[in-house]
Amino acid sequence: MASQTGTVLITGSNRGIGLEFVKQYLLLNWEVRATCRNPADAVALKKLSVDNPNLILHTLDITNESSIDSLLKEIGDWPLDLLINNAAYLGPPNPQKFGQIDYQMFTRSFEVNAIGPIRVTEKLMKNVRQGNMKKIIFLGSAAGSIAQIAPPVTLYSYRASKAALHMSVHNLYHELKPEKIMVSLINPGLVDTRGFLALQPDDPIPERLSKIVPIELIKMIQDGKIPMITTLESVTQMIHYIENLTTESLPLFVNCDGTPMPW
Ligand SMILES: NC(=O)c1ccc[n+]([C@@H]2O[C@H](COP(=O)([O-])OP(=O)(O)OC[C@H]3O[C@@H](n4cnc5c(N)ncnc54)[C@H](OP(=O)(O)O)[C@@H]3O)[C@@H](O)[C@H]2O)c1
Repeated sequence: MASQTGTVLITGSNRGIGLEFVKQYLLLNWEVRATCRNPADAVALKKLSVDNPNLILHTLDITNESSIDSLLKEIGDWPLDLLINNAAYLGPPNPQKFGQIDYQMFTRSFEVNAIGPIRVTEKLMKNVRQGNMKKIIFLGSAAGSIAQIAPPVTLYSYRASKAALHMSVHNLYHELKPEKIMVSLINPGLVDTRGFLALQPDDPIPERLSKIVPIELIKMIQDGKIPMITTLESVTQMIHYIENLTTESLPLFVNCDGTPMPW
């Protein structure tokens, strides 16, 4: 269990891995700023904020400059120990297949996954510099690892946009190292944010799942060929890794358990 407490801001925190980061940092007594596009509809976050005075909710669309500027106004000079760039856009699988690519969606993937996290980070640097820990985390993806690419060939826009993010994070790592600001890129693993683990081997694949993940991948998960972990397992490991992160930590791109990820 992590021992230090501090201040953390998390993007895309209304569901999935982002929400689990909020829950776990609250349990660890951190001061948490949870951001999402629509706090009014974020039922789980609102429930958490009732019992947790350490939790403050903010509106943030990471693709929208004025939304980021409004956040900056709201947080003012708040010292930020840890920034977690979690928000991302996976998008449905069919418009990401070669031969039927939706280029508006391709552009959207880049806006959210590659540009958004860098834009947010650039704007929040003053707060990060005022923090004690000076840690900036980006959620990367094995799907954006060029070295690991293997069939089934899917998710053109998601994969390309994550690979682009990885490159920017590598740049940023070198950029901020002289200031002793830590930058890290974490692949959270294949994490069950939608109920895949409840699928039995012979269950028909529900449309709600095939709409969001390529059917070939779901079959591999269902057959146990690709191991999937829970948000609790992934985030517990990432928090442990982040706590132990130092200016000397290498490599820059790791799995949730800290093992190296190939670029
Ligand atoms: N789950 C996995 O297996 C897996 C594997 C590898 C990498 N990752 C990475 O881990 C991170 C979290 O994954 P997840 O599975 O928890 O994702 P998720 O369930 O799809 O949630 C994505 C979050 O990002 C938010 N978001 C999307 N567009 C946004 C925007 N323009 N501005 C602000 N927020 C926005 C979503 O908000 P709305 O609810 O408003 O849409 C949601 O809160 C992502 O970076 C993802 O790429 C996940």
